[in-house]
Amino acid sequence: MNNEIEISNEIKKKLGIQEVRIAVILGSGLNGFAEKLEKAESVSYKEIEGFPQTSVSGHKGELIHGYIGDKEVICLNGRFHLYEGHEPQTIAKVIKILKNLGVKRLIVTNAAGSLRQDMSPGTLMLIKDHINFSGKNPLVGANDEEYGPRFPAMNNAYTKHLRDKCKKVADKLNIDIKEGTYFMVLGPNFETAAEVKAFGMLGGDAAGMSTVPEVISAVHCGMEVLGISVITNYAAGLLNNTPTHQETLTEANKAAEKLSKLVSEFIKEEK
Ligand code: HPA
Repeated sequence: MNNEIEISNEIKKKLGIQEVRIAVILGSGLNGFAEKLEKAESVSYKEIEGFPQTSVSGHKGELIHGYIGDKEVICLNGRFHLYEGHEPQTIAKVIKILKNLGVKRLIVTNAAGSLRQDMSPGTLMLIKDHINFSGKNPLVGANDEEYGPRFPAMNNAYTKHLRDKCKKVADKLNIDIKEGTYFMVLGPNFETAAEVKAFGMLGGDAAGMSTVPEVISAVHCGMEVLGISVITNYAAGLLNNTPTHQETLTEANKAAEKLSKLVSEFIKEEK
């Protein structure tokens, strides 16, 4: 079994890279961002020995290296969901690989269902916090002190100064962005109407089946995180509706250009 250091060295070799400070993880239907990368080179997860494999439609399964202006970026086009049967530690492994590539800032994007009637499909939601309702944690098991502490703090997981900067960039681009709490469920089923009501009462603004394990792992190993959800549907029953995966993909595709613009401009303005 290849460890994280070996795998990141193989990626460096395959993509001809030294150190990349910014990584972006693309959510369902949000792969349009990859087209914004200049001088892009990609490698399929399949070609990287020991790298986990993904299986969901709308998720490609490739690592892309490229540039946004003069900023070097590594992009995960295809993420790992717990509902696919991946162990939470597999997600931690992917994040540790990014850490070994030099990543200091992680940008996570996802498709999510609105838990609020005043946040309609098509809205971008800056994630200010999360509630981990998945019952799983990527840090379970022996702790590797090389990466981070046994009991990491999570109260500033979504770095305040990055959120402030993102709001400024959105303002400049005339992109409307809300801010809210991402409520992670394990999935793969969409919620019941009673769950949607309960999750809203617990403080969630949008429900989704990803992102949180990545963020926990990233914060554990000292990365700063920016998270953006694309609201693709009202969560089940909020408006007497029934969500489908197709609907989430269609809406994500529609909002992808707006999200890509925002993320690209954010990266361009990185120091
Ligand atoms: N619930 C959970 N995850 C989701 C949803 C939803 O309504 N939409 C997109 N991902």
